[in-house]
Amino acid sequence: MDSGAWDERYAAKDLVWGGEPNRWVAREVAEITPGRALDLAAGEGRNALWLADRGWRVTAVDFSEVALERARRRAAELAPRAAERIRWVRADLLEYVPDPAAYELVVVAYLHLPGAERRRVLRRAAAALAAGGELLVVGHDSANLTEGTGGPQDPGVLFTAQDVLADLADEPLEPVRAERVHRPVAQEAGPPKEAIDALARLRRAP
Ligand SMILES: C[S@@+](CC[C@H](N)C(=O)[O-])C[C@H]1O[C@@H](n2cnc3c(N)ncnc32)[C@H](O)[C@@H]1O
Repeated sequence: MDSGAWDERYAAKDLVWGGEPNRWVAREVAEITPGRALDLAAGEGRNALWLADRGWRVTAVDFSEVALERARRRAAELAPRAAERIRWVRADLLEYVPDPAAYELVVVAYLHLPGAERRRVLRRAAAALAAGGELLVVGHDSANLTEGTGGPQDPGVLFTAQDVLADLADEPLEPVRAERVHRPVAQEAGPPKEAIDALARLRRAP
């Protein structure tokens, strides 16, 4: 999907991904001492705002102007002091090159691109980590298509945690966690179903 298609999707509905941070981002980052964070594909800013509220200085990047405008406004309304710690950047991640070695944390949540493009973005994300910094990648797992619910239906943009490790095999990063995780999803009718996510967390050598 290009930025125009994402703008249309965001314009059609408020808080497409909800207002709370993604559960895996919250779980993995809760114990990390706040510093400088980079949120790639930040969307409506749920993770960026949560990070800033915990004291992180956040650079949040997305190519949807509709999402970023909503994120800016929501952050200013809900948490004006935290909002001052967020820099919103409109950019296409296929072109965007983050400052190297500048972040203690890089989050990439639910960015689904064809493999070669995903690798390009993830390698730049890895290069943006300062010594000892951590990269957290989460997204709909390849198994979600047949065993889970929701998410993109094109297998070419799904991935596994092992795919992320393979993408970054040449980078000076140590895996901390690489796994498939299950997330309950409320249904309009009937009991909740489980979505299957890929979670990869890696650390740059100190
Ligand atoms: C499923 S949303 C996830 C948003 C956010 N990470 C979250 O978890 O709430 C994917 C986001 O990726 C953004 N995106 C997709 N391709 C992109 C690209 N090439 N450059 C920048 N942003 C992109 C979309 O605009 C969208 O906001």
